[in-house]
Amino acid sequence: MLNKNSIFAANNCTREFGTGKKIVRAVDNTTFSIESGEIVSIVGGSGCGKSVLAKMMLGLYKPTDGTLLYNNAPVTNTKIHWREVQAVFQDPFSCFNQFFTIRSQLKDAFGILQEKPSHKEIEKRIDNALLAVNIKPHEISGKYPFELSGGQMQRMLLARIFILRPKVLIADEPTSMVDACVRANILDYLMKLKEELKMTIVFVTHDIGLAYYVSDRLFIMHNGRIVEQGTPDEVTLSPRSEHTVRLLEDIPEIHRAWIC
Ligand SMILES: Nc1ncnc2c1ncn2[C@@H]1O[C@H](COP(=O)(O)OP(=O)(O)O)[C@@H](O)[C@H]1O
Ligand SMILES: [Mg+2]
Repeated sequence: MLNKNSIFAANNCTREFGTGKKIVRAVDNTTFSIESGEIVSIVGGSGCGKSVLAKMMLGLYKPTDGTLLYNNAPVTNTKIHWREVQAVFQDPFSCFNQFFTIRSQLKDAFGILQEKPSHKEIEKRIDNALLAVNIKPHEISGKYPFELSGGQMQRMLLARIFILRPKVLIADEPTSMVDACVRANILDYLMKLKEELKMTIVFVTHDIGLAYYVSDRLFIMHNGRIVEQGTPDEVTLSPRSEHTVRLLEDIPEIHRAWIC
């Protein structure tokens, strides 16, 4: 089942925290692969292990059992890994320093790259990235994070991704703090990243309805396990796991009418 050329390949990948009676198995024996250029959504209720799995893909946690390979090798050096695998998280304010301007922090993002572009190229790439997320460069000129709305800040995180152009983007509930209109925009930007930069995207969400629209494949998680995986149609039209059925029942009526 595992493809040798997969960008990520997990084999019985497990992550435990704590010891003895207090042990928590956050990710439990997961086996999956993600191919280059795919959008895969990890879907499940709160506490099922989605973020721990996402952080493992970022190299922040190592498996305590089994393996997780990126391009056929375990992640050993996160600095090198992060040149290719980047993330956007739920709370954009926690990702920016309140005491520096947004633009200077977008410039700092280039520090992670092996080859730093020229000063002129950096300014150009920042402007283009801002335009890609529908922000005119002068709108953020001289501004600090606290002067922007949550939706604008979420777009700054995505602008950072347009600047860095990683091979893989891990997006952990990037839309859960914003209103419906901004949410639709963010999903559009994710599709743009996939189309324009051929990015592989791992989208983490509790909302199977959202995942249905943006994904090539869905992984349904429950209690640390991937209980079902397949294309959005396979998983939503003929779910095999009771946990998938429960997630589908949680979709608001209006949303469900679009899917069926
Ligand atoms: N650093 C940690 N130490 C101990 N337990 C953790 C840690 N991170 C997550 N967990 C536990 O692992 C489980 C899965 O958490 P998480 O992946 O954050 O869930 P979610 O699906 O909501 O993202 C939870 O029971 C959580 O309490
Ligand atoms: Mg989470």
